[in-house]
Amino acid sequence: MNKIDDINQIGLLDENQITEFSQHAGEIEHPRELIIDILRAVQLNHGWVPDEGVELTAKILGLTPIEVEEIATFYDKIFRQPVGRYPIHICDSVCCWSRGGEELAEHLQQTLGVAFGQTTEDGLFTLLPSCCLGGCGRAPGVMIHQSFYGPLNPETVDKLIADLRQEGQG
Ligand code: FES
Repeated sequence: MNKIDDINQIGLLDENQITEFSQHAGEIEHPRELIIDILRAVQLNHGWVPDEGVELTAKILGLTPIEVEEIATFYDKIFRQPVGRYPIHICDSVCCWSRGGEELAEHLQQTLGVAFGQTTEDGLFTLLPSCCLGGCGRAPGVMIHQSFYGPLNPETVDKLIADLRQEGQG
């Protein structure tokens, strides 16, 4: 077994992904540019990025784990701990505040029964505050995976949660 296989024992990336990322890294001047792409791929496959995911990324790119960890912990859409199936990033910036974002955040905490950073008991939702999500024109809003939802109010966010719950339990 080579070192990559040793690190990848829980199958964070498949063989094709490892081959593609390794080849790509060999073709570009700054392999660091691929850190987020690889971490995202790990997260997509595994739900979050365990230590082995950081190590694997470093190994593929010829970097040290700490160089990868610096990026992983800086970027709030990379999860270094387990999260629910639907991580809800709620916008915590000015346009959303001015349009009811704080009430929305309060409502979500009450509805889901969790504080920021916590996951619901059924493992479906993790509530996370986030800087501007780039949807200011549709404030206030949330981002779930790669989709922005807004403008939201308590009624529409309840509907969104109910739909996701149904999907998640289906
Ligand atoms: S301030 Fe909330 S999306 Fe920009």
